[in-house]
Amino acid sequence: MCGIFGCFLKNENAAPLIHSALKRLEYRGYDSVGIATISNGTIFLKKGQGKIDEVHKNINLNDLPGNIGIGHTRWATHGAPLQVNSHPHSDCTGKITVVHNGIIENFNDLKIELQNLGHTFTSKTDTEVIPHLIEETLKNKPDLPFEEVVQETLKRLEGSYAIATIFSQEPNKIVCARNESPLVLGIGDNGIYFASDIPAFLPLTTRALHIDNGELVILTADGYKIKNIQTNQTIERLPETVDWTSDMAVKDGYPHFMIKEIHEQPETLRNTFRLQEHYLDLMSTFLDRATEIFLVACGTSYHACLAASYMFSKLAFLPTYPVYASEFIEQYGKSVNIDSTILAVSQSGETADTIAAVATAQQRAATILSLTNTIGSTLTRISRVYIGTQAGPEISVAATKTFTSQLSVLAQLALRLAKKRGKVSQSEIDILDAQLEKLPDIVDTIVKTQQEKAKQIAHKYANSKLLFFLGKGISTATAFEGRLKLLEVAYIPSVVFPAGESKHGPISLIEQDLPVIFVCQKDDTHKTVISNIMEMKARGAKIIAITEEDDHEIKNLADDYLEVPKNIPSILSPIPFVIPLQLLAYHMALEFNHNPDTPRNLAKSVTVR
Ligand code: M6R
Repeated sequence: MCGIFGCFLKNENAAPLIHSALKRLEYRGYDSVGIATISNGTIFLKKGQGKIDEVHKNINLNDLPGNIGIGHTRWATHGAPLQVNSHPHSDCTGKITVVHNGIIENFNDLKIELQNLGHTFTSKTDTEVIPHLIEETLKNKPDLPFEEVVQETLKRLEGSYAIATIFSQEPNKIVCARNESPLVLGIGDNGIYFASDIPAFLPLTTRALHIDNGELVILTADGYKIKNIQTNQTIERLPETVDWTSDMAVKDGYPHFMIKEIHEQPETLRNTFRLQEHYLDLMSTFLDRATEIFLVACGTSYHACLAASYMFSKLAFLPTYPVYASEFIEQYGKSVNIDSTILAVSQSGETADTIAAVATAQQRAATILSLTNTIGSTLTRISRVYIGTQAGPEISVAATKTFTSQLSVLAQLALRLAKKRGKVSQSEIDILDAQLEKLPDIVDTIVKTQQEKAKQIAHKYANSKLLFFLGKGISTATAFEGRLKLLEVAYIPSVVFPAGESKHGPISLIEQDLPVIFVCQKDDTHKTVISNIMEMKARGAKIIAITEEDDHEIKNLADDYLEVPKNIPSILSPIPFVIPLQLLAYHMALEFNHNPDTPRNLAKSVTVR
């Protein structure tokens, strides 16, 4: 997730306005920033690594000439957060300049093709193929107007993008386009703006117009023109007035980042399928050859590791040890060695306990692999191979979208390993692959259909002094994560156990009306879970089930339930099953008027041990 903004102004200089608009988009990424303007047929460009204020202090982003310009604030996905990888990116001639938010899936093939045609690349980004490909199209079709050259070029791109491009030889236009990454126009009295999000231009205008997938936009002194990229049809669309405050706009109209991020999960999950195959293959090769594998993380990331340990062993027949990073050195600091492989998982890539565990293992010559949402973080720098989880910045302290993104990447790794190790039939793998790809839609359905019910259940049980979370098999990890969410944002004491463990002690806490949340995926644990539910009911517990929509047996036993679509393979179940638990925690927090985005005593990134 990055932020793009640009403008075609009537009189003023564009750069200072782009600079201030990018500041309002900084929540979408802050690894680097850049602005390009056009004046008298020349492109002027400044960019730098770091947050906008730091870069501005060093290179003054405001003094570029011209009333037309494009800008970008970056959240690194392809290529480290370095100056060379900062946007805007240009072609070989420096006449075409592009900003981009999204992921070009086929960039590697395009890059090789363009390099063979003599193009020189300066960055490691996927974006840089775009200006070079436009340059190439232009070479072949020199008579086409720039917007048509861009239109032709876009037909070759696979993946997601919101782009904007300027061309020094046609200095009176900006061409933008969208596919699966947000793009919105702002129509003001002093000019036209394009942006990733409304807050970027909200102080300038409240008249906004959303661009849809597959659309191209041409901004000129006469206004805007929208075309369908494939059919070339002109699209008539008028702006609408938005009545958001700036604070609401940053949250896309949601009251809190936590609920915004819960709703973003269909999109962030889709992004996890745009991972570079190459890295998944490389990491699964390392895992396949490993003698012993530790999955090391804290908090929510640890729960992703716990779920992954079931995925790896059940699918790929590969045993792994999930370990709390804060315990790793005590438990394995002396035994970890050259034959050990560490797969560290961390949203921030900066968690002190995780870094310390990894550093210890590294000193003892273990192989370090990692999964993180923050490219360029300490973890990426000390890993042999890392994969970015592509969830974009997560602002709420409670991890939600980064958890499901971690799970999706781990599931993809487990599937690759299963293939490599030949333990699972091809048809089973095909079914799982297909189900995995359906998850964004499934999650979308859950978010849309279960929110109101989660709110009602939160209200009904808000006065409970204690809650239980139970799950069996891979759902143990889901139950642990559901409980952590509730604890951290609603501050309700709650206990979690594998369902089978409950009768070895915790059941003594059960008394009349105590709510017990069961995560009930439909697999071979089903019968035992039903017995566990009966044990709890017999002692007066109220059962809240997270269940599949067609699981009438569970629904009939439960006092309340939240449901997910049917036929979810058990191995993938934590992704959909955790969504109702995230919603429940969020609404519980609201019951007590807690701000779920900033829970007391917690920090987004825990950089102390
Ligand atoms: O950045 P990390 O994934 O390494 O962070 C680990 C934990 O601090 C984090 O998951 C924490 O538990 C969250 N607040 C959970 O919502």
